[in-house]
Amino acid sequence: MTLSFQKKLIKKATKWLTAVATLATAQIVAELLVKAIMVAVQGGHLSYLRYRNEYLKRLSAEYDITFENLEKVAAKIEDECVPWVKAARMRPLIVKLGGSVITDKRGRFSVKLSSLRRLARELKAADGPLVVVHGGGSYGHPIASKFEIARGFKNEEQLMGFSLTHRAMEELNTHVIEALQRAGLPAIAIQPSACSVVSDGRIVRMELAPLHKFLELGIVPVTYGDVVPDLSRGMSILSGDQLVVYLARELGASRVILGADVDGVFTADPKLRSREKLIRVITPSSWRDVVKSIGVASGPDVTGGMAKKVEELLILAESGIEAEIVNAAKADTLKRAILGERGLGTKIMAG
Ligand SMILES: Nc1ncnc2c1ncn2[C@@H]1O[C@H](COP(=O)(O)OP(=O)(O)OP(=O)(O)O)[C@@H](O)[C@H]1O
Ligand SMILES: [Mg+2]
Repeated sequence: MTLSFQKKLIKKATKWLTAVATLATAQIVAELLVKAIMVAVQGGHLSYLRYRNEYLKRLSAEYDITFENLEKVAAKIEDECVPWVKAARMRPLIVKLGGSVITDKRGRFSVKLSSLRRLARELKAADGPLVVVHGGGSYGHPIASKFEIARGFKNEEQLMGFSLTHRAMEELNTHVIEALQRAGLPAIAIQPSACSVVSDGRIVRMELAPLHKFLELGIVPVTYGDVVPDLSRGMSILSGDQLVVYLARELGASRVILGADVDGVFTADPKLRSREKLIRVITPSSWRDVVKSIGVASGPDVTGGMAKKVEELLILAESGIEAEIVNAAKADTLKRAILGERGLGTKIMAG
């Protein structure tokens, strides 16, 4: 190897190394920028942490980040991340309107319009971002149960059952949206079966970007228990209760309120046995003692009724988000809970 060739090689290698080092430093600066913005998101909600990583990957795929274009990249980061930060800081309130309150679960397709309209007016008490979830009541549960959707895909007949259950839920959802609009709330339906990836009955992922934007705009997303495609079972039911918990954790909810047709969780189903005692607080350890006596639901409920509801909410308690089940069938109870009153029903919290 001649000396001049060696010199040339060293020169070239130095140039490459400098370029690589510059690029790496620029990328580190860009990453730090994204991280700094995301750290501003208090609480480190799951969706933001995930979003940050996906965003960084996308950013480095889109750009050859160099010092020359760093300013441009930084502006892009700011443009794209700031709305997310704003949305995260909002810490929405999540309210579930139980199917037991807005429908008559003993009947079929029987919406309780006057209760629904009253509850819509009570929801107006929320003075910040709000997400509404509603259950299936006498719309979703009976058809889902007839076609055994919760057991997964077993036969072709279930396909029509799947389609009919979804349509029934859309009908109930239309009533809910209409009631909210009448009360002056700009509500919009979010169809879970179109934006959730579910496996073995549990949500793996949900596309939340539109929801963030709705909250930022001041629009009220309204989602509901739905039939969903399931990666392992073919099909399954995604309960409103599971949705509440998933959304609360992902969005870093300030609080969760679930409206049912009973005062809260009792030592046994209060509709079947009188003199049952209302349990004021449930923690993971106290749950082990009471779970045996807790019943399911007084009408058909393919998602496990009261016992499963509490189990879902205990997952939430682990994330430090408090939840309370209140009697939304009693006028103004939901409103008082929204206005900040605690202890109206059963609180589910970490021990
Ligand atoms: N230990 C209990 N304490 C309170 N309610 C109980 C208990 N056991 C069973 N229940 C029944 O659970 C019902 C509430 O659960 P259910 O799933 O029917 O309501 P929901 O979640 O509002 O409805 P949906 O699932 O349609 O949204 C009550 O109406 C009550 O009869
Ligand atoms: Mg239920």
